[in-house]
Amino acid sequence: MKTVHAWAMSVVLLLAVFGGIQAVTLEVREGNSTCIKADLSALFSITYNTSSSERSAVLELPGSATVDPSSSSCGSESSPPWLVAVFGSGHALGLSFSSNSSMYSVTNLTLQYNLSDATVFPEANSSDVVTVVSASVGIWAPVNTTYRCLSSATFRLDTANLTLSNVRLQAFMSGNDLSPNESVCLADQASTPAPPRPTTIAPVPVPTPAGPPERGNYNITQNGTVCLLAHMGLQLNVTHTDAQNKTVQDVVNVNPDLTSASGSCEANNTILVLTLEQSTTLTFNFTLNSTASKYHLSGVSLANWPNFPANSSIGNGSLNYLRSSLGHSYMCNAEQTLVVLPIFSINTFKLQVQPFGVTTTQFASAEECQIDQDQMLIPIIVGAALAGLVMIVLVAYLIGRKRSHAGYQTI
Ligand SMILES: *[C@@H]1O[C@H](CO)[C@@H](O)[C@H](O)[C@H]1NC(C)=O
Ligand SMILES: *[C@@H]1O[C@H](CO)[C@@H](O)[C@H](O)[C@H]1NC(C)=O
Ligand SMILES: *[C@@H]1O[C@H](CO)[C@@H](O)[C@H](O)[C@H]1NC(C)=O
Ligand SMILES: *[C@@H]1O[C@H](CO)[C@@H](O)[C@H](O)[C@H]1NC(C)=O
Ligand SMILES: *[C@@H]1O[C@H](CO)[C@@H](O)[C@H](O)[C@H]1NC(C)=O
Ligand SMILES: *[C@@H]1O[C@H](CO)[C@@H](O)[C@H](O)[C@H]1NC(C)=O
Ligand SMILES: *[C@@H]1O[C@H](CO)[C@@H](O)[C@H](O)[C@H]1NC(C)=O
Ligand SMILES: *[C@@H]1O[C@H](CO)[C@@H](O)[C@H](O)[C@H]1NC(C)=O
Ligand SMILES: *[C@@H]1O[C@H](CO)[C@@H](O)[C@H](O)[C@H]1NC(C)=O
Ligand SMILES: *[C@@H]1O[C@H](CO)[C@@H](O)[C@H](O)[C@H]1NC(C)=O
Ligand SMILES: *[C@@H]1O[C@H](CO)[C@@H](O)[C@H](O)[C@H]1NC(C)=O
Ligand SMILES: *[C@@H]1O[C@H](CO)[C@@H](O)[C@H](O)[C@H]1NC(C)=O
Repeated sequence: MKTVHAWAMSVVLLLAVFGGIQAVTLEVREGNSTCIKADLSALFSITYNTSSSERSAVLELPGSATVDPSSSSCGSESSPPWLVAVFGSGHALGLSFSSNSSMYSVTNLTLQYNLSDATVFPEANSSDVVTVVSASVGIWAPVNTTYRCLSSATFRLDTANLTLSNVRLQAFMSGNDLSPNESVCLADQASTPAPPRPTTIAPVPVPTPAGPPERGNYNITQNGTVCLLAHMGLQLNVTHTDAQNKTVQDVVNVNPDLTSASGSCEANNTILVLTLEQSTTLTFNFTLNSTASKYHLSGVSLANWPNFPANSSIGNGSLNYLRSSLGHSYMCNAEQTLVVLPIFSINTFKLQVQPFGVTTTQFASAEECQIDQDQMLIPIIVGAALAGLVMIVLVAYLIGRKRSHAGYQTI
């Protein structure tokens, strides 16, 4: 359990170093006036159980997080002001506030997470929605000032660690914008003028494997019928720290002969799980928007990577890749890089997938990626240019010939 946490914290640190955590702006309003406003980046590392062991997942408060108007409030006699941001499939971050005549403070931080979200918590043996709370937070500032803390601070919430950074927030606001008077946290005061960006970790490149990966056939069969078709070559690119705290990049080709595919197909959600060499699992989550009849790759996670400590996973559930329409497959022959996290990306080669609307064992007509279309354009442009050149030469020749005929006639 200790090693799982230590590892998760080093992933949090790596993500912070590579600057991958995005800032989110959240605002609680009542009528036309704003009472709580917060700009912040948040990263969670959460411990959960699979059937065989305890595991750790890292997830971020995505830019798509929104304030939940039904549980957030500006406060009343009986209930304190509360900001609740919801994101992904049933996850939420809450900050509750209190004040006296001179100060306001964050009284508690709550995190709710949904273990049914298989992209974030692959193989969780529970499907519960878990709520954890930290009651001693230590975020406070004088009334009418903005609390500022750009440095990162980590809070322990039972099974989760929450790391906040780039924080600017204010509650009990008297205007609609953050007060220009900032109350700077101790950590920021120590590191004048602004928090230092760690520069000591320089990635050590590892040679890429010889050649592109072999193309594999990964299908899901449910109730005897195929419901997902995937034909692709995959190369994983994972950054981690080694025993000497050095940053290392693993670039590994997925070998189709040593990989098995499983998963599930639901109306609006298809999950493809690839098990690599019987231990590492790579999970793809495809989402269908049935109103728009469009689907996309919405999440990817990686668990039990050989160079990670046992029983850990990383992933991102707010992706938007491989976009296509229901009734079509998505195709990209050119190499494409899917960045999952700053420390984890997938290079795809000769990819064709169809996660929804599969009716036969053959792909439906394909919608091709932009790179392929552009590459197809090159021969067309070259061909058109050549044809144009031939035309010009021909016309020039004909004109020349006519002129010389005319010349003969005058003689
Ligand atoms: C909000 O502002 C609009 C226009 O400025 C005004 O018409 C409306 O009455 C205001 N509502 C409240 C609750 O103050
Ligand atoms: C995992 O299961 C063990 C044993 O039941 C339990 O003690 C532990 O609290 C669980 N961990 C989590 C994160 O639920
Ligand atoms: C989940 O797994 C842990 C051990 O990893 C076990 O103690 C716990 O009882 C399991 N929970 C359920 C709901 O199966
Ligand atoms: C939890 O996640 C599952 C699967 O993504 C979803 O069906 C369910 O509605 C979510 N629960 C909540 C409370 O949002
Ligand atoms: C945290 O704050 C929320 C909102 O004020 C409240 O409903 C909840 O009971 C608090 N939890 C704890 C443990 O204080
Ligand atoms: C207001 O709260 C702060 C910290 O919570 C405390 O230090 C201060 O003494 C309080 N002031 C009054 C007037 O109660
Ligand atoms: C905060 O600002 C409002 C409006 O400018 C003012 O009415 C209030 O007295 C101020 N509160 C404090 C504690 O300075
Ligand atoms: C698959 O079969 C199970 C039971 O045999 C049934 O409950 C389920 O609805 C079926 N699913 C689909 C997608 O047909
Ligand atoms: C692997 O990822 C790193 C960091 O994002 C990048 O610099 C490197 O070019 C990638 N290598 C390959 C082979 O994609
Ligand atoms: C690696 O770095 C972390 C944080 O920078 C530090 O806590 C840890 O002791 C270091 N480990 C080694 C083996 O140097
Ligand atoms: C589905 O697509 C429609 C139309 O493009 C859009 O308005 C809606 O927000 C989408 N739904 C989801 C859940 O993304
Ligand atoms: C997850 O993916 C989204 C969309 O590509 C990206 O904006 C976000 O930064 C990613 N999360 C992390 C922790 O890198």
